[in-house]
Order: sequence, then structure tokens, then C-alpha cells
Amino acid sequence: MTLAMTLDLDFVRSQFPAFSEPSLQGFAHFENAGGSYACGQVVESLDRFYRQTKVQPYHHFAPSRLGGEQMDRAYERMAAWLNVGADEVHFGPSTSLNTYVLAQALRQKLAPGDEVVVTNQDHEANVGAWRRLEASGIAVREWRIDPDTCELHVADLAALLNERTRAVAFTHCSNIVGSINPVREICDLVHQAGALAIVDGVSFCPHGMPDIPSTGADVYLFSLYKVYGPHLGVMVMRRELNGELPLQGHFFNADKPHYRFTPAGPDHAQVAAVNGVLDYMDAVFARHHPDRPGSPGERADVVRRLMRDQETRLLQPLLDYLSGHPAVNLIGRTQAGQRAPTVAFTVRGRSSDALARQLAAEGLGVGAGDFYAYRLVEALGLDNADGVVRASFVHYTAPEEVDRLIGALDAMLP
Ligand SMILES: Cc1ncc(COP(=O)(O)O)c(C=O)c1O
Repeated sequence: MTLAMTLDLDFVRSQFPAFSEPSLQGFAHFENAGGSYACGQVVESLDRFYRQTKVQPYHHFAPSRLGGEQMDRAYERMAAWLNVGADEVHFGPSTSLNTYVLAQALRQKLAPGDEVVVTNQDHEANVGAWRRLEASGIAVREWRIDPDTCELHVADLAALLNERTRAVAFTHCSNIVGSINPVREICDLVHQAGALAIVDGVSFCPHGMPDIPSTGADVYLFSLYKVYGPHLGVMVMRRELNGELPLQGHFFNADKPHYRFTPAGPDHAQVAAVNGVLDYMDAVFARHHPDRPGSPGERADVVRRLMRDQETRLLQPLLDYLSGHPAVNLIGRTQAGQRAPTVAFTVRGRSSDALARQLAAEGLGVGAGDFYAYRLVEALGLDNADGVVRASFVHYTAPEEVDRLIGALDAMLP
């Protein structure tokens, strides 16, 4: 297979209505880690669902049956893309809620004195839900970042694990530091201790959804509204674990795997619109390999590489600029190949919020704050109220947009 190929950016951008939307002309989106643009396939799917099949699904009458079929297809296609079974995929309202429900399920299996490990590099979604278990007598241990590098060291986790450890909740990629943690190595270590590995993939997946079995995670979570899709959280849970954890949904749904940990009930239109995300991914693959259909795993692999290569190329100049500026404190690694294009920094003597406001006035959409990685920002000795500036981009970002950001920063910084 030929993989030395670059992303067709014009094609990619043609798939996103936002890039031809008149009201967004001149605006450059750099808050993708908060929420990405939706691809046209998703927008069309939502529109179609609401026009044609917006009735209760899974009855015999035509619009209901068709709605249900689209939803079933969404589970099957997402599962195939992630290389798991359709019964291992859950669509919930968000990652925060999926994590909460998961933690409550696990709570019923744990005994006082059992231990759970959380990090201070994570978004609070994968911390707070676990810390709540302290009220049930579960001991919560914290795997802390090295404050000099903002990295989590695997050796520090090893020192926290013991025979009472039942679960370790950590992030595949930090939504501030941008580092990609060695997920497989960590999961293997967690399993050697006999514990479950709960992985937050929210900041990783916009850059290419992974082959889940190869991560080693028992539960892997991410949010589709950051992956060009509808506002849903995906939770992939190992089949055996699903069977072991107590039901959190209605008692009569106990034998339906993806109803067991989604007590809120699904948003039908959004579940159906997951197909739009996969149509987009398929379209990217087909654009670069019109000669063959490819298996889902092959398509996922190719799309991931195309995205990652494109992002890495655009990221290095931004990292070089920020790491070379005397007034800037860049958070995380300076080599693009070792991190995601989620770039947080502070500027000496300047408020992050004020800088984000200034950039917004130039049509550059960056965020400021702690991005709910509250404990991380605190560990870095920063003021949570002002936090960091975060410029995050994805594969559809154009080189000219990155140049514009660097140029604007250069004009604004001391
Ligand atoms: C790394 C990370 N984890 C979890 C979440 C929570 O996701 P959700 O908004 O779907 O609850 C976010 C949201 O920004 C995030 O960035």
C-alpha cells in the first residue's frame, strides 16, 4: 500500500459547510479542541432525519423502521471503524455523563479500601466522577504530572499501583499539554496490577480515531462533537466488562448491551448522524485511494496517517515561534511529532483572557481558561480564573490560517 501521500486540503475543506458559510468568512477556527466544525455529511444527516424519520424508531411503520435502521448502522459502522463489536459501542449525551455512569456502575462492584487512580493531567470529566467514589470509602490516588515538563511518567504510576488498585483513569492526550501518552504501555501496566484501564480519548480522536484493541483500554471514551460530528459521547466498553458491571439502565433492557450504561436514552437523530462522520471519513479515504474500497481498518489507518501528517507539518512552525519567544511559556513538548496540535501557552505580564479577546477581534478564534483541566492548571501554578491561551487545530486547518495566527501573535506580543 502506498501511504506517502499528502492530504487533499481543498477536498477536505469542501466537505465542511463552515468554510463556505458567508458569516464565517475571514474567521479562523482555533478552538477545535473545544468543538470542531461539523462535516456536511453530518449536517445533511441531521436535516434528513428531522425531515423524514423524526418519529420514535424501531416500530414497523416506514419512517420509524428507517430511522431505527440508520441508528443500527451507526453502531455497526462506528464499531467497524474502531475495530470493536457493535455491542461494545455506547452513544451517550457526552463523555462527562458516560464517565459518571461508568463510575457509578463500578462503585457498586468496589469495597471500602479499594483504590482508584486518577491523574492531574486529565479534564475533570475523567477525574471528578472517580473522586466522588471517595464518599463510598474508595481511596483515590493521584498520578501527578512532573511540573517541569507537564508530563505523566509511567514510573510514577507504577509506584501507585498495588493489590487494592481496581481502576486507573487517565487521558490518551491532554487537552492542554497536547502530549500523547503511551496508552498501550500504561494499559499493560494497569492490567499487570489486575486493574481496569479507563482511557479518555476526547483530545486524541479528532486527530484520527484509534484502533481500540491496540490501545489496550477496557473502556475508551471520546466526544463526537469534536470529531466533526453530532453532540454525543462514545464509550467503548470491552464486552466481558459490560457483562460484569451492574446495569445502569431500565431493568427490562438488561440483555441489550448498549442500553446498559446509557440511562439517559439516545438522541435518535444524533445517533443516526454518526453515519455522517463515517461517510466523511470514507470520503477522505476514497479521495486518496479511488482505486479500492479498503476494509474499515485500512480506511481508518490511512485517514489517521493523512490527518496526522498534515497536522504535524503545520504544527512545527507554531511551536517554533512560541518556544522561541522570550515572553511566552509554551506548555508541553516543542516537537510536533510528539504531540497533538492543541497548543496552550501563557505570556509573561499578559492576561490570557485579554490576549484571546484581542485575537478574537482579528477574527482568530482561540480559547482562554483552564478548559476544565482545573487540576492541571493549578498544578502548573497558574491562576485558574485566567488560565492559559489555547490554540487548537485539526487536519482541515489551512497553512495560511496558522501563518495568520503567528503573524497576529507576533504583532501583539511584547
Ligand atoms: C480531554 C477531555 N475530556 C473530556 C471532556 C468532556 O467531554 P464532554 O463535553 O463530551 O463531556 C472534554 C471536553 O472538552 C475534554 O477536552
